[in-house]
Amino acid sequence: MSHTPPPPEGLLAELTHRCPLACPYCSNPVALDAPRAEMSTDDWKRIFSEAAEMGVLHLHLSGGEPCSRRDLAELTAHAVEAGLYTNLITSGVGLTRELFDRLVAAGLDHLQLSIQGVDAPQADWIGGYKGGYAKKREVAAWVTAEGLPLTVNAVIHRGNVEDAPRMVDLAVELGARRVEIAHTQYYGWALKNRAKLMPTREQSDRAYAAVEARRAHYLGQVVIDHVAPDYHARFPKACMSGWGRQTLNVSPSGKVLPCHSAEIIPGLEFWNAREKPLAEIWAHSPAFEAFRGFDWMQEPCRSCERKGQDFGGCRCQAMALLGDASACDPACTKSPHHGLVNEIAARDSEGPVEGFAPRRYARQEEIPTPA
Ligand code: FES
Repeated sequence: MSHTPPPPEGLLAELTHRCPLACPYCSNPVALDAPRAEMSTDDWKRIFSEAAEMGVLHLHLSGGEPCSRRDLAELTAHAVEAGLYTNLITSGVGLTRELFDRLVAAGLDHLQLSIQGVDAPQADWIGGYKGGYAKKREVAAWVTAEGLPLTVNAVIHRGNVEDAPRMVDLAVELGARRVEIAHTQYYGWALKNRAKLMPTREQSDRAYAAVEARRAHYLGQVVIDHVAPDYHARFPKACMSGWGRQTLNVSPSGKVLPCHSAEIIPGLEFWNAREKPLAEIWAHSPAFEAFRGFDWMQEPCRSCERKGQDFGGCRCQAMALLGDASACDPACTKSPHHGLVNEIAARDSEGPVEGFAPRRYARQEEIPTPA
């Protein structure tokens, strides 16, 4: 692509990879940035200013757990001043009342809270954090009392798939205006746990239908974003709404990535926001140019009538399953390799969910499997 692409709408700032939770479905890379590699407050402020100048509208403050950063309120205030709409993506664990008040005073626009289950035994087991469920309820109450818009998001897998519709009920009970129900994406750490987390096709289909049925039930009360299970879908998801089209990620150490998993693709060259202006990286970085537009596509994507809808699916999934990042995402039924996805899904959904590898950033307590 030789012309300058339109500016991105959103920037996902992975402020830190530190996280108190140990979710087995974590899609962050297997190798995480150490705290000493994290960018400084001034680095992040400059990046936020550059983002606003180049036309970014939405800033997602994420991680790891962004509340692990001591400068979170200061960074939020700077982003708000720069004119960005700020969304804090948090587990709620690590968010104190004092920090919450400072974030509100800084002008935080929106909070997105993750939930791992519909009750404490299930949620604390999956999140690997005792007391996590109670803390999330407390945080949701602060957010709604403050009148701040709340989104609740839940990742679905074999350990909670039967509860997917109840996740929507819980989000409504917590006062969310939006709920995101997303089936696990098998990248990064989650890929290691695929054989423990994959639901059966019957479970997926049942959960999907039950969540869709909640749409009509809660019409006008809550908006439901529903991310289908890749391995049981007909067509792939439009990952990142297309590579280098709408959003960019900045890693804790400043690497600017087209998606959070892009580093699994060998040969891509990532530029660093500590060294180059964000607008230059967005427009010219080899990593962004690699799969932008349609020229890189192979068949069947190249001549597919859906290529403007799903953009060939997910580059990281094509890499992880086929070893070729420019192949059609094998989650697509048009892929000549779609049979592989069916085989993996059937094989990996057989065993018990117990025994998954929790993602532990630091030493954390073991939580027993609920009875
Ligand atoms: Fe990288 Fe989908 S996660 S393109």
